[in-house]
Amino acid sequence: MKQEMSIYCGNVRTAAERSSLRLVLVALAALVVAPGCSPDPNTTKLQYVPDMADTAAIKAQRDFLNPPEGSVATNAILYPATIEESEKILRNPFPAAAESEAQGKKLYDTFCISCHGDDGKGKGSVTDLYPQPPDITNEAYVTRQDGFFFHKITFGGAIMPAYGYSISPHERWHIVHYVRVLQRAAQHGSTAPATPDNSQGGTNP
Ligand code: HEC
Repeated sequence: MKQEMSIYCGNVRTAAERSSLRLVLVALAALVVAPGCSPDPNTTKLQYVPDMADTAAIKAQRDFLNPPEGSVATNAILYPATIEESEKILRNPFPAAAESEAQGKKLYDTFCISCHGDDGKGKGSVTDLYPQPPDITNEAYVTRQDGFFFHKITFGGAIMPAYGYSISPHERWHIVHYVRVLQRAAQHGSTAPATPDNSQGGTNP
């Protein structure tokens, strides 16, 4: 009985039969595995007639044309490159009035207070771990022009982060007014709003 079985299962099959059986098995395995590999929708499998897939055109979200040298974005704001120029050219477009100072306080309390402290003296809540900023209410800063502060907020410092991307130019000017409020508080103990003074002339971004 045992011998009959072995004759029937093994020796009777020819080599050709065995290889076609293997083919069937491979085909079955492929059927099981194939649904797992979804085709890449971005790949053209067969290019019967070369279509527009491979052109010199710029592919969406892949690349962009380099703007010609010297071109400026239509919404670009050109700032003076140096602090000296900023102090000389830039003027605060808002009068130093209570409304602007109140906006400035909100923004200062959002963006600056953690490092510079609520009074501007540099003892913010993170300064145990982060380098302590200078006291921006002291005399050396009081005598600085508004453009200095605008420049610093825009470009940051050696350690201080730049806020040109996250705080709009108008908001930065409001903050500058509020820094003046803190300076007056430190110098004279008064936080009363300044009298509106926008007579300096000059340009604003
Ligand atoms: C993450 C901490 C941090 C934040 C937030 C921060 N500063 Fe500063 N700031 C510093 C440090 C540190 C310095 C000193 C070193 C430097 O200039 O980088 C500094 C310096 C300054 C100076 C003096 C720069 C000089 O050259 O003397 C001014 C003015 C100033 N900050 C204003 C602001 C204002 C306004 C904001 C909010 C918009 C702000 N900073 C937010 C850390 C910070």
